Amino acid sequence: MQSEKGCKIGFVPTMGALHDGHVSLLETSKKQCDITVCSVFVNPTQFTNSQDLASYPRTESADLEMLESVQCDVAFLPNVDEVYPMDYTVSPVNLGGLDNVMEGAFRPGHFDGVVQVVWRFFEQIRPDKAFFGEKDFQQLAIIKRLVEEKNSKIEIVPCPILREKSGLAMSSRNVRLSDSGRSQAAFVYSKLLEAKSASEKQLPAEIVESVKEDFALRDTFKLEYFEICDIQFLQPVTTFNQPARAFIALELEGVRLIDNIALNY
Ligand code: PAF
Repeated sequence: MQSEKGCKIGFVPTMGALHDGHVSLLETSKKQCDITVCSVFVNPTQFTNSQDLASYPRTESADLEMLESVQCDVAFLPNVDEVYPMDYTVSPVNLGGLDNVMEGAFRPGHFDGVVQVVWRFFEQIRPDKAFFGEKDFQQLAIIKRLVEEKNSKIEIVPCPILREKSGLAMSSRNVRLSDSGRSQAAFVYSKLLEAKSASEKQLPAEIVESVKEDFALRDTFKLEYFEICDIQFLQPVTTFNQPARAFIALELEGVRLIDNIALNY
């Protein structure tokens, strides 16, 4: 696609199993752009575990219904060969180490796959703006870096995290939790909120230690990381003299959940 003068194209990339979090990205795009394109593609190159790829929820007809109900202008559901033709090559992008921490450390190669598919879609769709949720804050930081490195004019628009009533961050993976898992998962957000209020009086290291202890007491959760990092380089901070967020990843009932919260800004 090519944007005509004065006709702004908004792009919302997804891996399907659409939920209200995606709807809010689509609605933001619809407000800011003339045409909204949504891709639904479970990108194999960003999965570091074949079991995770196989069990990723796929709900194509419900997704199409949802896209129609929010009047998304274009639904793009390519197959793997269209996205990655035999002759397709990618040039490496310097992500400045943003891809080595947290998700990058626990899922090596994950962000190479994300960057590959997002850039491929940017080339195909040529949007003016692309909308990414803050739930994947590290991904958002990496995509911002990608457009800088490529000298691209695409504007990356961050969109706030949408939560279920319990506080659980909306995610396509939540459908794989049992009812009991869903209610237990509310504990994650309660710990993030506690970390936020603790940031007014405690140092990052103290908060990290106490949250890790709380998770160690609950054997239903397998905590991967809980970190407090600056928002530019995503490096752990020792004081709160710069904007910082808390980031968490864990497994519950075999489902990997991630979340984060702004602490002091
Ligand atoms: O956030 C996601 O759903 C995916 O990482 C994305 C951006 C659609 C790329 O496959």
